[in-house]
Amino acid sequence: MDRHPLVKKVLVDKVEIDSKIDSLANEVNSYYKNKKVKDNTVVIIGLLKGCIPFMASLIKKFDFQCVIDFMIVSSYGGTLTNIHEPKILHNINTDIKDADVLIVEDIIDTGITLNFMKDYLEKKGAKEVKVITLASKPNKLKTNIKPDWNGFEFGDEFLIGYGLDYQERFRNLPYIAICDTDKLNDWEW
Ligand code: PRP
Repeated sequence: MDRHPLVKKVLVDKVEIDSKIDSLANEVNSYYKNKKVKDNTVVIIGLLKGCIPFMASLIKKFDFQCVIDFMIVSSYGGTLTNIHEPKILHNINTDIKDADVLIVEDIIDTGITLNFMKDYLEKKGAKEVKVITLASKPNKLKTNIKPDWNGFEFGDEFLIGYGLDYQERFRNLPYIAICDTDKLNDWEW
């Protein structure tokens, strides 16, 4: 398929992402290898929908016992600038009391979503909450949250691909790219 006209520039391609996921998975495997966790099981919680491609690739490389669950947390009121207090739209069914939890995210922007999530899961009784994210935008951070494992760091660009969307499109792209925002004003799908 030809590259979509809204893809302005590919920042990291599939090969780079695959290799990054390999090294992240190695680090996470080492961390949990000799760790005593409840029921010998790490609880992995993905934040929908952006986590899907990253989480699907990542967990296949984990060599420790785990369960997966998902949450939907909305921080944006439909626009990119209208940030409000995060709201849980879908919650986990897994009991996380005393559990070691690993949150999987596609990107940390302001950090507001993750800050809220971490706090929420700790209050729900998790023993430890770790965070892994494919990407982050350190310049846009508005909280103290720091991922325990981070794949790539980017600037302020509007990114699409590998879970990142514009109007729900482009999550399936096997790379991360800058979206051509000059074309968005009168864009029709
Ligand atoms: C995006 C992204 C993170 C969050 C990061 O999710 O997946 O969850 O925003 O932003 P923050 O650091 O400023 O809180 P979004 O709410 O767009 O949902 P999505 O995963 O369905 O794309």
